[in-house]
Amino acid sequence: HSDLDKQARSILIENDQGGYTIPTRGLYPYQWNWDSVFVALGFSTFDQDRAWQEIEMLFEGQWRDGMVPHILFRKDDPSYFPGPSVWGTDGGAIPSSGHSQPPVAASVVNSLVENDRTGRAPEHAAALLPKLMAWHRWYLSYRDPDKLGVIAVIHPWESGRDNLPDWDEALRAVEVRDIEPYERKDTSHVDPAMRPHKEDYDRYLSIVAACRKVGWDPAKVAQTCPFFVADPGVTFIFLRACRDLLALAERLEAQDEAREIRTWIARMEKGTRVLWNSTVKAHVALDERTGRQTDGVSSASFLALYAGLRDADILSALQAHFDRIAARVRYMMPSYDPDHRSYEPLRYWRGPVWAMINYMIAKGFAEAGDEARAERLRADTADLIETSGFAEYFSPETGAGAGGGSFSWTSAIWLAWAS
Ligand code: DGY
Repeated sequence: HSDLDKQARSILIENDQGGYTIPTRGLYPYQWNWDSVFVALGFSTFDQDRAWQEIEMLFEGQWRDGMVPHILFRKDDPSYFPGPSVWGTDGGAIPSSGHSQPPVAASVVNSLVENDRTGRAPEHAAALLPKLMAWHRWYLSYRDPDKLGVIAVIHPWESGRDNLPDWDEALRAVEVRDIEPYERKDTSHVDPAMRPHKEDYDRYLSIVAACRKVGWDPAKVAQTCPFFVADPGVTFIFLRACRDLLALAERLEAQDEAREIRTWIARMEKGTRVLWNSTVKAHVALDERTGRQTDGVSSASFLALYAGLRDADILSALQAHFDRIAARVRYMMPSYDPDHRSYEPLRYWRGPVWAMINYMIAKGFAEAGDEARAERLRADTADLIETSGFAEYFSPETGAGAGGGSFSWTSAIWLAWAS
């Protein structure tokens, strides 16, 4: 494995732009939020100071209202669309997109502190604590304005799982309007069969235009955005991040913060019940504009365990889904249920396996005492990378690599699991 360890480290180093890391060359030439945080986890296996720098540079882009944007545009790169001029934001010190991405940062910061070898972690963590608090408060205020205890996304891009079948119905309801003629760049880097369709992009841009119209004011966005869907992925990642933030606050003896975070956890633990689909027997998405739940198991359904939900019924339902899906595909965990009509094994978030999702799902299974399924996820991820390299994502059926190559977070997860 030492060759692959070396390769993974050199991918991170080659994608380093001087303190922050791009996901891959060409396709994604900027700093992406959750990519960067997983990258920090990878760097922490061989350079902990560099890991902190990655996260600190991400927070340089934090908006005045607390949001940490999904993309920071430190320069304008013509190889990516939509760039800063399409977003038209003015929320922070660095040009950025206008919404966020799954908040994994508190979890990784807590793990950097737990595994600190430098003695400098408490200082880094203390400086980040108020910023993490502000970001979490922003999520609760503007992505759960009705205090349901679940987190909504205002754009499929905010979920990080762009063309997931869960968004199809809500996205179709978005009127295509206020968009200029545009040229996609993603399909010049990657086979269009592995990317979202044009109809999706028209609506992605229409949502951006609608939010731009209200000046990206987060309260107005929450009220008026044509897309507002509670996401089990962001909800579970957020709940987990709140638990890790609590551990961090307690470690730093920040009592007031700890007290506040405990109220968030209570609200979320109760709230996640509205995502439970009793027919599907899994947590699914909920369109907050229509009240309709989706009907498919996604890889995020399995993150209930990572979020710390410990009901025996949830665990046994997920174990049954796991085994059913494992009988259908060679490599776990497909991003969408292979028994669902919308499943496509190579199209981005409609079927492919993603290493960082496997990492989080495996953590959840292990913590729930199910070491066997956790190990299956780790072994499958290793097999995929050994066979197909550090691809962006993989076919659950053949193991073929898809999307971008020399991918940062795939490398980071390899390192995190190897160490
Ligand atoms: C893209 O451009 O496909 C990204 O996933 C958006 O974040």
